[in-house]
Amino acid sequence: MKVFVTRQIPDAGLDRIRTACDCDVWPEPLPPSRDQLLEKSAGCDGVLTLLSDRIDAEFFDRVGPQLKVVSNFAVGYNNIDVAEAARRGIAVGNTPGVLTDATADIAVGLLLAAARRMREGIDNVTNQQWKTWEPMGFIGQDLVGKTIGIVGMGRIGAAVARRLHFGWGMSVVYTSRSDKPELDSELNARRVAFSQLLSDSDFVSIHTDLNPATEKLFNDSAFAKMKPTSVLINTARGGIVDQDALHQALQSGTIFSAGLDVTEPEPLPVSSPLRSLGNCVILPHIGSGTVASRDAMATIAADNLLAGLAGKPLPHRVDPA
Ligand code: GLV
Ligand code: GLV
Repeated sequence: MKVFVTRQIPDAGLDRIRTACDCDVWPEPLPPSRDQLLEKSAGCDGVLTLLSDRIDAEFFDRVGPQLKVVSNFAVGYNNIDVAEAARRGIAVGNTPGVLTDATADIAVGLLLAAARRMREGIDNVTNQQWKTWEPMGFIGQDLVGKTIGIVGMGRIGAAVARRLHFGWGMSVVYTSRSDKPELDSELNARRVAFSQLLSDSDFVSIHTDLNPATEKLFNDSAFAKMKPTSVLINTARGGIVDQDALHQALQSGTIFSAGLDVTEPEPLPVSSPLRSLGNCVILPHIGSGTVASRDAMATIAADNLLAGLAGKPLPHRVDPA
């Protein structure tokens, strides 16, 4: 079986693939270009992809009808046309469950950094502007006893809610496609309408997937409903936030600050005005970046790939629905 792995991933997964397949791994730190991706994948029985690889009808046409499986090295899969894969009988896998805590930790870290103006503080030190202890300087938002709004109460959303409820005594409100009675009792959480979440929350953290219903969900009208002291955290997908509207909201004081681990596109262009705002903390999409998470993602992605090649059910299969 011939497979293309679109980037170097941890040996925990790569070793299994190398043992079982004729395996080509893209060796560069930067992703293959579109042409290189299509060329390297052509004739393959399976591909192991990253969230930066667009997998669509054109890709499937070029790779050929022998393609059995696309294994994404991520829990999110908005880079893959899953419906088109299903039509062609190609299995799609992802890596859920193993990056929940790592991503929740980054969300809480961004919340602390954005609420307590850490970017401005770090810039102040780095730029040799630290002159004295300032009784009126760098005054941020309190956390204890405030309200956290979780947009998308899945595994990661619940892990963030637990940290903030048990650690900082926050009240939890959330939006979700379904009721979560067990979380309502564990966290004394309340499922509310999106507009109510915006107006009630001191902190809003995004944990939904990117789909047509959530694209640019955070736009001018959403920011207008948020408190001027509120903080927005996004560790999900950049496309869920209208970045022009976010820039406007941060600059005008419509909201207090933001912490982003994801942007649209990635990397965020050097010309993006968000980069120069002191009240916008930006990380280069590192939510899943711990030893255990990345090793487990590699193992699951390899297992999905090998199962798909063998014509067996994927341990973690993405369904078109
Ligand atoms: C990372 O963003 C992932 O979806 O795993
Ligand atoms: C601050 O450093 C304090 O001691 O209050």
